[in-house]
Formats: sequence, C-alpha cells, structure tokens
Amino acid sequence: MLITQQPILKRFWYPVMPIASLQEAPQAFTLLGQPLVLWLDGDGKPAATEDRCCHRSAQLSKGQVIDGNIRCPYHGWSFDGTGACVKVPQLTTDHIPRTYKVSGYQCKERYGYVWVCMGEPLHGLPDIPEATDTGFRQIHEFYETWHASGLRIMENSFDSAHGNFVHARSWGDMSNPVPPPIDEITDTETGFLMKHWVEVLNPDLQKQNLGIADEKTIRTNERRWFMPFARTLKIQYPNGLIHLIFSAATPIDDKTSQLIQFCFRNDTEADAKAADVIAFDRTVTQEDREILETTDYDAPLDICQEQHMASDKPGILMRHKLAALLKAHGEVEQRRQD
Ligand code: FES
Ligand code: CO
Repeated sequence: MLITQQPILKRFWYPVMPIASLQEAPQAFTLLGQPLVLWLDGDGKPAATEDRCCHRSAQLSKGQVIDGNIRCPYHGWSFDGTGACVKVPQLTTDHIPRTYKVSGYQCKERYGYVWVCMGEPLHGLPDIPEATDTGFRQIHEFYETWHASGLRIMENSFDSAHGNFVHARSWGDMSNPVPPPIDEITDTETGFLMKHWVEVLNPDLQKQNLGIADEKTIRTNERRWFMPFARTLKIQYPNGLIHLIFSAATPIDDKTSQLIQFCFRNDTEADAKAADVIAFDRTVTQEDREILETTDYDAPLDICQEQHMASDKPGILMRHKLAALLKAHGEVEQRRQD
C-alpha cells in the first residue's frame, strides 16, 4: 500500500512533533506527502496549514509567527490556523480577497505532542487512561525518522515471533523460538486489542529498571492497535510494575515514518531513572529499526502476496481491516508500479 495514494488515510489523527518544539519558531513537517507548517497561535494552541504561500509559493515555515498568525517570509502576507489570509501589508484597504487562502488542518495537543488530521476525522485520538492517572509518570523516549512504512512497523510491534531473534542481544532467547499462543484478539472501534504473555530474559541493564533480580521474567502484554499507525503496549510484570509504551509511525511519505514513542510507568524516578528506562527501550527499538529498514516499504494488504505463520495473525488482521477501510470508502489499494 502506498500511503500517499490512499486519501482515506488523511482522515486519521497523527502525532507529528513535541509541542515544545514550537515554542521558539514555526516548524515544517511532511505528513502523508503533504508539507505542513506548524506554529502556536495567539492562545498558545497548535495550528497547521500547508507549507506553501498562495501568493508566490514561498515556504511559510521559513516565516515568523506574528500575533498568532504565520507570516510569509517573502512579502509578509499572514495566515491564521484555518488558512485564511488575515493581513496583506501592501493593501491600502481592509478588504482581503477570499481567494487569498491556503489549506488549514485540524490540530490538537495531547500527551505533549501536536496531532494533525488532514480531513474530517473518522475517530478521536487514541485514548490512554494512564495519562491522567496520578499513579503514573510519563517518559518521552524517541522522536526520529525511520526509513520504513507504518504497516511494517505496526505489524512488527504485534509480532510475537521476532523477539527471540531480533532482540537476542537485549531480551530474546533464540533457544526458545516458539512464541506462546495469542490468548485473545478482540475488535475495538479503532482496531483491535491483543492479549498474550511471554517469558523473557531479564538482562542486567533491565534488572534495576524492573526491580526484578531474576534471570527470567514474565511479561503479561496488552496491545492495542489504533488504526492505522499507532499502538499501545501495556506490559505488566509479576511485581505489579506497569510499563505502557505508546508508539506511532506517523507517515511522512511512502517510504518514511516518524517514530514517536513515550511511556507511562507506575513507579518513580527513585525506582528507575528515566534515562535508564530510555536506554533499555533504545536498545530494543534500535534492534527493531535495523530490521524494519531492510523491509520493502510497499507492504501488501493482499495476504496472498507474502507467506505467513500462526503468530502473524495480528498482522493479517491489520491488512484485512485496512483493506476493508479502503473498500468502504471506494478506494483500491495502490502499489508501486515497477
Ligand atoms: Fe508569500 Fe508573497 S510569496 S507573500
Ligand atoms: Co521488536
């Protein structure tokens, strides 16, 4: 599936950047192949429009935020968050033609990130109850560009067979390659929920983070897929520790995703330093990245195009659900032509 060729994907919310990155200046981000400019409006709320001025097509993200509007660096026209032109310094009357406008997009802040939807939203933002639970702290982990497609990244995060190989250096156990069966997969409004458990090695790097001294431990996992390219992984350990990871593979273009990851934990900095938690998740995530960047970005929704095994069930379900989404909106899966 070529994500830039499927208009329905514009109707989902995507996290695009930390809200803090807009404090100093407007920023550019490409979402689903569309260059955007993002900034903070007069109320400190995020705003997003296309990153192209309707006058002589200069990049608005090279401009400045003046009175909560984005001012083009070329001739100084200003646009509000709806994309309407609100000031033309060269005009001698107050009347600004209505055709002076750029495309504006819905924009929200949640979990410390700016989220953008480029169409009429099909769903709300992913709901993470732990985010408002005072027993949990949030740790921001990664914000980086991966040369892999969202579907590949998502199905990998639900794939219980790769860990013992890809993560052999961190927690995998190659001598134990058969993944435990998936306990349950149930449909949700925006994807599905998968429950399973897995026994993992507990390397020295992780022992302090978990407060578990044993050489092996059990993870009870609850994974939620938020269509199309976000998920939560809620890991519960035998001592009651919960490590809930949110990851999004925000689609930049057909080949590239912005990996955004943060976690919520029901412990404190005294129990496990945030830097150590990030360091372990960094090791694991880097292992995934190395493999995923070797995969073909044009992941097929047609399951006959690749071979499968039992643990691929969630990935197959993702493909079925994405194929059904396209069909329901009159779209045909677009593939690379070569
Ligand atoms: Fe933007 Fe002229 S190109 S104001
Ligand atoms: Co992995």
